Amino acid sequence: MLSKKTVERKAFAKVNLTLEVFGTRDDGYHTLRSVVQQISLCDTVTVEEAGTFSSDSGFSDDLSVKAAKALATAADVRKGAAIKTVKRIPVGGGLGGGSADAAATLLALNDLWRLGWSRERLASVAVDVGSDVPALVLGGTVLMEGRGEKVSPLFPRDAPIKPFHLVLANPGVFCSTKDVYAKCTSRLQETPSILYNMRSALECGDTGAVAEAMVNDLQKPAVALHEEIAQALEALDDAGAEGVMMSGSGSTVFGLVRDEARGSEIAAALKEQGFWAECVHTVVR
Ligand code: C5P
Repeated sequence: MLSKKTVERKAFAKVNLTLEVFGTRDDGYHTLRSVVQQISLCDTVTVEEAGTFSSDSGFSDDLSVKAAKALATAADVRKGAAIKTVKRIPVGGGLGGGSADAAATLLALNDLWRLGWSRERLASVAVDVGSDVPALVLGGTVLMEGRGEKVSPLFPRDAPIKPFHLVLANPGVFCSTKDVYAKCTSRLQETPSILYNMRSALECGDTGAVAEAMVNDLQKPAVALHEEIAQALEALDDAGAEGVMMSGSGSTVFGLVRDEARGSEIAAALKEQGFWAECVHTVVR
């Protein structure tokens, strides 16, 4: 049984349904615009009150500890936290695993420390932890802009998207976000139709149109670094998923499927070919 001073939360992963990369900023980061969609694949994060900050993840640059320290400073809380994570999201996979854990840590500490902060206020603490963390604090279907710090729900809470199923496939290569961005050629001009088409497709619940509207400017540079990603894209496409594309900076690829039964079949076929694969569905906030 969990003690009173422990809070557990699911840390949902994400896919980027669109990801447009514009120029480089003075701080070296890229300006981007992305429709970020949370999915049912999740880690489980447990936070427990403690004198200092610790994590059982084994990563020296653990994002959850960074997030916890940032919140303690911002909220002037003089307590620590022991963070435990059950990992299911592939690491270095473009699914925002570390960021999801950090976001779940912020939401859990908000409860544990009884801060009563809104998700928007928590998200403002999150950007210095990692560019994807604010979007995952907000949750659901999020429009992410700037370096990742400008986040807003794409749809009102009382009118979320109609859920749909996706198959994820990971070729087992670790993609360095930094290296992929460094190889990316920025868009020279904005293409307003990309966001418009995705928003309309999601609003109508038309998965065929969602598949057609998908864009990821980081896919080409990531494939140039790791040809295994091209193999995963081809395998998922051959297996029958729609709109097959890479998520974030890779290496996980994903495609849309009509239902869970079909998605499970496709995931099983991909596993037989040696990929890590999973059928998941979208989640709302
Ligand atoms: O913020 P985060 O630590 O996730 O970013 C990892 C790396 O990805 C950065 O060091 C940077 O090289 C690149 N990046 C970028 N522009 C962004 C987000 C990330 O260039 N908007």
